[in-house]
Amino acid sequence: MTDLKNIKIAFFDAKSYDMDFFNRANADFGFKITYFSSHLTIETAALSKGHDTICIFVNDIVTQEIVDILIANQIRLIALRASGYNNIDLKAVYRRIHVVRVPAYSPHAVAEHAVALMLSLNRKIHKAYYRTHDGNFNIQGLLGFDMVGKTAGVIGTGQIGKIVAQILKGFGMRVLGYDLFPDKASATRIGFEYVDLDTLWKESDILTLHCPLTKETVHLINEASIAKMKPGVMIINTGRGMLIDSKALIEGLKSGQVGSAGLDVYEEENEYFFEDFSTSVITDDVLARLLSFNNVLVTSHQGFFTKEALQNIAAITLKNIKIFFLEERTESEICYKCGQQGGCVRKQTGKCF
Ligand code: NAI
Repeated sequence: MTDLKNIKIAFFDAKSYDMDFFNRANADFGFKITYFSSHLTIETAALSKGHDTICIFVNDIVTQEIVDILIANQIRLIALRASGYNNIDLKAVYRRIHVVRVPAYSPHAVAEHAVALMLSLNRKIHKAYYRTHDGNFNIQGLLGFDMVGKTAGVIGTGQIGKIVAQILKGFGMRVLGYDLFPDKASATRIGFEYVDLDTLWKESDILTLHCPLTKETVHLINEASIAKMKPGVMIINTGRGMLIDSKALIEGLKSGQVGSAGLDVYEEENEYFFEDFSTSVITDDVLARLLSFNNVLVTSHQGFFTKEALQNIAAITLKNIKIFFLEERTESEICYKCGQQGGCVRKQTGKCF
């Protein structure tokens, strides 16, 4: 049986909090982890040499060229320490290299962050904080609205969307849902109703995005959909940046059609998010324009960032790697290399890799 102490992990985009949580979780596994602060890029992919697996995060983009380098360096597994996998070129990895991810680590973390953005924007907490710190106790311009009785539209009613719906029901809101695969039993239990997208655009006071980024959902929020929304709508995005056409959002904010926006993700976030640019110039004019609105609240992809979520991410990622290398995979799995189902003998002996 493979000894986990011999499995070497090249860990990209490592931050101090990643190291803290992964080192603690690794006490139960014993992998050899090398932490690299750099993103996985065509220039840094060579660092994978001498390792068995790489561990990456949401802004490490795995392209065809990078997959070629990983294969040449005998990397057998890409372990995503995230749930979304839109940063992987799936055609490039198909039948060449395995990918594992963390499908759920704390949907509550992201759902609660989405609601935090709603409450902050509504009651202007971000502005009040600066005012009172500056000795300004004037409340003019901080007028909000009661959430009770208002309508929220939740797009994507999976793990996160359902929790958001549940929290908003707790506020006494009417909740509308839209999903390609409606979960009617949960809708009945939580007390929300499924509607078509046009109804959702038309009736929602607050819109919140919790669907994955796919070909169908790229720029779901665009000029045409914004035009159908209630004037003054609040838009919250903790899903993926590309769900929103940022330029159309800016136009909507300028005209007042969009009343406010809470963005935990941004189309071109991999340039900026998770890094400190406080002493340099932001050259992305779209991001700079979004940051200039006082009714836009941008957070840096921190929806997942709770203690509980990081503990789960570390433990599940390392367990995924252990399962892969200890060959505990299911009998129904197809060997990615030879295509044989279940009992591929070469897979069991490791020769298929
Ligand atoms: P999930 O897979 O449980 O739910 C996604 C839901 O979206 C499913 O019900 C699915 O049927 C639905 N869906 C798929 N295509 C759709 C479409 N075209 N239109 C409407 N609905 C569609 O995923 P989960 O865990 O709820 O996460 C949702 C998204 O949140 C992830 O895809 C990820 O992009 C994002 N996320 C963001 C984080 C952050 O830190 N900001 C952290 C974790 C996830």
